[in-house]
Amino acid sequence: MQKHRESINILGIETSCDETASAVVADGRIVKSSVVASQDKLHEKYGGVVPEIASRAHIEQIYPVISEALRQAGAPKEDIAAVAVANQPGLTISLVVGVTAAKTLSFMWEKPLIAINHLHAHLQSAMLSEQELKLPAVALIVSGGHTCLYECESALDLKLLGSTVDDAAGEAFDKVAAILKLPYPGGPSIEKAAEKGNPKAVRFPRSMLGKDSLDFSFSGIKTAVLYHCRGQDMKGRDKVDNMDEQEIADIAASFQEAVVDVLVKKTERAVKKIGAKTVLLGGGVAANTLLRIKLQQLCDGFSAGKKHGRGGDAGNGPIQLLIAPKKYCTDNAVMVASLAYHKFKAGLFADLSLEAFAQGQ
Ligand code: KG4
Ligand code: ZN
Repeated sequence: MQKHRESINILGIETSCDETASAVVADGRIVKSSVVASQDKLHEKYGGVVPEIASRAHIEQIYPVISEALRQAGAPKEDIAAVAVANQPGLTISLVVGVTAAKTLSFMWEKPLIAINHLHAHLQSAMLSEQELKLPAVALIVSGGHTCLYECESALDLKLLGSTVDDAAGEAFDKVAAILKLPYPGGPSIEKAAEKGNPKAVRFPRSMLGKDSLDFSFSGIKTAVLYHCRGQDMKGRDKVDNMDEQEIADIAASFQEAVVDVLVKKTERAVKKIGAKTVLLGGGVAANTLLRIKLQQLCDGFSAGKKHGRGGDAGNGPIQLLIAPKKYCTDNAVMVASLAYHKFKAGLFADLSLEAFAQGQ
């Protein structure tokens, strides 16, 4: 009889921004537990994440969150094969809380430590369900701090094709929500307001940069919304207080449409450039329904042979679209533990000198 292979359980820890999260994932895809303590309420009144407040909240939450993840997974420490932590990019004073906790557990339990890039982990959320990825893949990561396009040859082999030259897509959602006086976090608020709005009401600019550019720029559209609400010279009265619900909805819908147009167009360029067979979508903004629908339409267009890329007349052929489940779009530790499984198998371990870094795409 074949001997049953023991599964590899990895404890993941995530504290890169304003969510304290921990999870246990077996063999990179079986979620045994996922605990997320959100700090939205703490940052709400500031309209954005305050690093000092975030760091302090992580310190308070890290122990209960990890304990709860282990409890829900029913996994004693003997059953944990490794401890993984997101150590970049993010707010260093937040990251360092997770890194310190992970190093402590790794040392006490005598288990290997695995360092994870937070953005690459977001991408992993889109691969959770897929056994066989058709390669090459284009990966679009859209979060509060980053907007990146990658060429993906495997979970561990990512090449940056383009990124934002100014604001990230999620940051633009958050800032425009603040202009429209909608609650924080901005992405879900804009999406909700946009449901009743006309996306053609205001023609906001779509910044495509150069003809072949795979980089992004979202500060122009944010400024356009600001001018629309406060007048070109910014000397006018803030009109938002006098706008009715429909007007706010129209601006939200028009802004959302413009950002999604840019994201989809750039993804199309990347797909054509590398002859991609798969598109992967992850990060907080990936929860946006319009983005999910429009990327599906893009991939359907390629699959139907209506769009042509490197393959010339034959087009790219069918393109599969893999999107992170909504609950794993925003920050979580499942994505950390899941990516760590691939590093575990490749023997890519960190040591106790591991540090936190603000940058790192
Ligand atoms: O990935 P994430 O949780 O944190 C970072 O790594 O930054 O992304 C958070 C971002 C925020 O800017 C939030 O407004 C945005 O994702 N977001 C959305 C939606 N849900 C979250 N943006 C657009 N539509 C959504 N439904
Ligand atoms: Zn994130």
